[in-house]
Amino acid sequence: MNTTIKPKTARGRLGVLIVGLNGAVSTTFLAGTIAVRKGIAEPVGSLTQLASIRLGKRSDNKFPKIKDFVPLTDLNDLVFGGWDIRDEDCYKSALYAGVLSEKHIESVKDELSKLKPMKAVFDQKYVTRLHGDWVKKADSKFGFMNLIREDIRKFKAEQEVDRIVMIWCASTEIFISPNGVHKDIKTFETAMRESHSDISPSMLYAYAALAEGVPFINGAPNLSVDSPALVQFARMRKVPVAGKDFKTGQTLLKTVIAPMLKAKMLGLRGWFSSNILGNRDGEVLDDPDSFKTKEQSKLSVLDVILQPNLYPNLYGSYHHMVRINYYPPRGDDKEGWDNIDIFGWMGYPMQLKINFLCKDSILAAPLVLDLILFMDLAQRKNMYGIQDWLSFFFKSPMHLEKATPEHDLFIQHMKLKNTLRKMMGEKPISHLDETETVKEFEAVFQ
Ligand SMILES: NC(=O)c1ccc[n+]([C@@H]2O[C@H](COP(=O)([O-])OP(=O)(O)OC[C@H]3O[C@@H](n4cnc5c(N)ncnc54)[C@H](O)[C@@H]3O)[C@@H](O)[C@H]2O)c1
Repeated sequence: MNTTIKPKTARGRLGVLIVGLNGAVSTTFLAGTIAVRKGIAEPVGSLTQLASIRLGKRSDNKFPKIKDFVPLTDLNDLVFGGWDIRDEDCYKSALYAGVLSEKHIESVKDELSKLKPMKAVFDQKYVTRLHGDWVKKADSKFGFMNLIREDIRKFKAEQEVDRIVMIWCASTEIFISPNGVHKDIKTFETAMRESHSDISPSMLYAYAALAEGVPFINGAPNLSVDSPALVQFARMRKVPVAGKDFKTGQTLLKTVIAPMLKAKMLGLRGWFSSNILGNRDGEVLDDPDSFKTKEQSKLSVLDVILQPNLYPNLYGSYHHMVRINYYPPRGDDKEGWDNIDIFGWMGYPMQLKINFLCKDSILAAPLVLDLILFMDLAQRKNMYGIQDWLSFFFKSPMHLEKATPEHDLFIQHMKLKNTLRKMMGEKPISHLDETETVKEFEAVFQ
């Protein structure tokens, strides 16, 4: 990163194109952001709106808000749009999602009622539990992708936005492992023209975004932009990409507890995670092929954090199981149980039990906001390809083929803040260069 050139200022308006505009996460994000703009709600959970960042030594006492330190787009300059397979406005969808109270939804009714989705690119083969009638028609997958490009251009012109960010908040597609079709951009383009079955709608949205120079974020666990072909395309087009799968509930806790176990050299015999969830996301994940996509995303974190190859006696043979059960009475109020079997001094067994009663979309909404603002910032700083400094927000952070992903929440947090410091030409914080301590340390050892 060139640290002498700061990000360009956020001039004009930023278009936010959401795939899955009418879903629970999207409408909770939209209602909340509009309510914050009106000064009737607090953006709790959002780093860009609330967090501060330390600059220099602790004794310098400089802790500006992130939003005052880096040139982020103001919430009043966001313009929303997107696609869904349901022909209804976001007011009706927010009521249907059942996440927010009627009082909150009514307070932003005018704005939500005006938000209607464009027709989606959808194929039931990839999300078997849903049917869509608000969908586009084309002769090939390449044709579908071109229709998305046209939508992007039309939105930009009609809404008079200066820049756009696209985010996938749509349903989880079935599991597709990257293969020859996704190996490079040439084969990928041929596969789109041949309507190959390993090209899913989320890949078409991602390609269209990149082709239009629009940063793309994947909030779901499906492959989407996370393939060598599309990462190569992002680099060619000089556009940032980030994903995948918002880190909100159980995995968020996992990436806090597991580093603690490792830091304390406590052993792990097993980790059983179970959830009940009753929203539409839960219904989609009830399909084994969509669940497989989610399961892969949730399972990957422990091994990377615990490094069983380095600590075979502590972490060489633990059992890790993840269950998601669709249970309609709960709606968006997900309940997760974790049973963690650990062992300590001389191998004596102990247990940890965590019962997290959360609201799925309430946890996800601030991540959507932060990711949109940070990706726009990255583009204005001319940063492109995989934005792994945003791994803080994801269960399965995208990473270069040769690198292992970082899952530890606090390392991710430090990486995010140090990247912001570097972007603005400030020194990253290493916790070693606290002058007093270092001076004392050096004096002792001279
Ligand atoms: N809520 C969380 O904490 C959380 C965490 C991690 C990931 N996610 C992921 O975020 C996504 C959204 O979650 P949600 O609870 O809002 O789900 P949801 O079912 O309420 O919303 C998804 C929306 O996507 C639409 N859709 C499906 N396929 C589409 C397509 N091809 N084009 C356009 N629209 C399409 C659906 O009609 C629906 O309105 C899911 O993939 C979920 O797994 C959510």
